[in-house]
Amino acid sequence: MRALMAESFAPDALPVAKSARYEALAEEIGAVLEGEPDLIARMATVASMLAATFPDFLWTGFYVADAARPRELVVGPYQGTLGCLRIAFGRGVCGTAAAEARTVVVEDVQSFEGHIACDSRSRSEIVVPVFNAAGALIAVLDIDSARVGAFDAEDAAALEGIVKAVFGAGS
Ligand code: SME
Repeated sequence: MRALMAESFAPDALPVAKSARYEALAEEIGAVLEGEPDLIARMATVASMLAATFPDFLWTGFYVADAARPRELVVGPYQGTLGCLRIAFGRGVCGTAAAEARTVVVEDVQSFEGHIACDSRSRSEIVVPVFNAAGALIAVLDIDSARVGAFDAEDAAALEGIVKAVFGAGS
């Protein structure tokens, strides 16, 4: 009997150049998530596919705005080593991105006052706010790298595009 494989994804087949790679990934994510409204499934899939596409990413995942505790983020689906469970709005890179509702790129975490070190290998970081179709902040997407300066404006634009398509377009 043949095993049933509902989803398939071959990151090795994606273009190598960063912008083309993000663009192809965005299409693959859209195809896999088509018709799937569940938020946890959508976040878990985005985290998995991003981490598989960019092996350089050390930690890739979501901190979700906790409906039960205003202005607090709680860890959501992620790929990587154990992350801290809760982050208050305004604290660390994630809390700053959430409080200010903007993407934060940190070239070198050692020069970011208040950076929360979940994995001591983390050297740079990008955090992108995630809005739903109504424009409410529902989460942030946090990606860490072991390399200083791993993220730039191109990563920011591509990741903002992906979270907008997946969480902001209505599903
Ligand atoms: N470094 C983050 C905390 C989350 S972890 O790195 C997974 C921050 O300062 O917000």
